[in-house]
Amino acid sequence: MENKGLIPKEEIDQVVQATDLVALISGYAALKPSGKNFLGLCPFHSEKTPSFVVSPDRGNYHCFGCGVHGNAVGFVMDIEHFHFTEAVEFLADRAGIRLTRSGGERPEKAGLDLRGCLTLAQEFYLKNLAQASPQSRIALYIKERALSPELCQRFLLGWAPEGWTPLSDHLTGKKVPLEIQEAAGLVKPGDKGGVYDRLRGRLIFPIRDVTGRCLGFAGRLIANDDPKSGAKYLNPPETELYKKSSVFYGVFEAKDRIRKTGRAMLVEGYLDVIRLHEKGFDHAIAACGTAVNLEHIKALKRLGVKELELVFDGDLAGRVAALKAARIFVENDLDSKVVMLPEGLDPDDFFKKYTAANFSELVEKAPYDYRFVLDRAAEEVAGKGISQKKVKLEELAELAAAITSKLKRDLFLGEIGKAFKVDPQGLRAKPGAELAAKSLEQKLLLPEQASLKGADARELRLMKYLVHQPRAIRTVRQEISEEYFENPYLGRLFSRFLSLENEEFEQLRPLDFPEFFKEYSSVLMQLIEGEPRYLKEYQEDLVLRWTKSLKKRVQRSELQSRRSDSSDSALDLVQKKMEERKRRKQRLNQS
Ligand code: UTP
Ligand code: MN
Repeated sequence: MENKGLIPKEEIDQVVQATDLVALISGYAALKPSGKNFLGLCPFHSEKTPSFVVSPDRGNYHCFGCGVHGNAVGFVMDIEHFHFTEAVEFLADRAGIRLTRSGGERPEKAGLDLRGCLTLAQEFYLKNLAQASPQSRIALYIKERALSPELCQRFLLGWAPEGWTPLSDHLTGKKVPLEIQEAAGLVKPGDKGGVYDRLRGRLIFPIRDVTGRCLGFAGRLIANDDPKSGAKYLNPPETELYKKSSVFYGVFEAKDRIRKTGRAMLVEGYLDVIRLHEKGFDHAIAACGTAVNLEHIKALKRLGVKELELVFDGDLAGRVAALKAARIFVENDLDSKVVMLPEGLDPDDFFKKYTAANFSELVEKAPYDYRFVLDRAAEEVAGKGISQKKVKLEELAELAAAITSKLKRDLFLGEIGKAFKVDPQGLRAKPGAELAAKSLEQKLLLPEQASLKGADARELRLMKYLVHQPRAIRTVRQEISEEYFENPYLGRLFSRFLSLENEEFEQLRPLDFPEFFKEYSSVLMQLIEGEPRYLKEYQEDLVLRWTKSLKKRVQRSELQSRRSDSSDSALDLVQKKMEERKRRKQRLNQS
């Protein structure tokens, strides 16, 4: 059983116990005493009369206006857009409790765990830069790149000196075991035993999470003619803490602005982020040496990003990356603008020639992702023959079919129609549709966007029961499978449940679930909330009754769909799927 990342239940309890809920929430909403409870304006929706109640006795909050409720952990998750673990860690930090996350033993001293080790390394890099002589290579470079002391300080830039082991020697001197240095991604084992520093002779960029904790370091090579010195930029290796596909450089410095405005600016380079912050675009972040992917999108949504400004360098690589990214964002429900910089410039270069006002203007005028994709397509086929246009059109229709939101899909189809002067209806039934429908189906199941609103009460009840009385899995497993669920999130989550052995599953306690099935943490938080009486003790007959009722329902609807399913052939699968979902919804609303 993979449980490295789990926070032990006792520690979560300890953190929740140690948290003064009223003090915590008072940081976000003004509360007034009201009997045993506290009352205030809800921080989650706008209201004129207070309907937000905090109960210190019960350790929870409830809004009678919008229905949000939960405990301290839930509150932090919602208000800070944190994951379950992040929320617990946040509260632990706040309460001065040290969690035993990485490797069992409670670390006695800083430096014995990954975080402590990274902190020591960060201090080391910072000190090296501060103490570099004005004539040293690094000091000259910093000057040449116009990185002010204030900027260096804001981004905690550092210097990894040349030599094979200065960092490792320093850490070893602080009693950090080599295994920890290696697990933190700071050193590599050498050929002849021992280890050597990964980053040597480099300007150091600490990569921090939203809460400001260091996860790893990237390093830029400083003028060194030796080709054996390696790539210009080195990104951190994957570690327990650093996952390259979901971190953003600059996110700590950018998070306030991003949360306030719902906008983020995604650029390509580390130094570009820094320069943009200096110029007032302090919502700029960068993916660390990887292309944008679905994990990034989820991370952006967790941050509360509604609209993204994608900024690409004005070179061939930039244009290719822009098209790729634009397609990803068209498919997913996040609006983005595509900003292409003038030929040959990256953001850092841009400001050597132009002003912040010029940059704002570029962003303002930039096309939205779908427009960008269509314009590129139109450019490509301009002056070409009909068959080449047809191929391009099919490609676009396929992209359309993969768009998760129906409204957005229809809008996009309409735009394609306009751009290519064809009837958008005709684009729906096309050869790639089957495949696209499949990928659509998968996209619809992105648990990150999961809402249990309108989910069937029977399904909810059963899943809630499994989370509170995991031993029920033994019975349920024999009775039903994923297909018996109407709600796609619950169905998928259920099949994840089934992928565990009974014994493993039974060990999980309610609070373990969001951590264990991380990608479903938002669904699971909704399931572990509240504890109705029927959840308190295990009743086998109850479980059997519920599974039976789910089974019956499916048998009924199968009969129905067999009756209506006679004409499948070339029917547009995408549309069919959408209609099916609509019918389901209507049924739910009626019942
Ligand atoms: P660029 O090569 O465009 O560098 O890489 P840059 O940001 O303009 O850097 P300067 O101005 O020369 O210092 C852009 C980004 O691509 C990634 C890094 O994230 C870099 O910031 N990259 C680049 C790597 O990961 N490895 C490399 O070897 C080069
Ligand atoms: Mn550059």
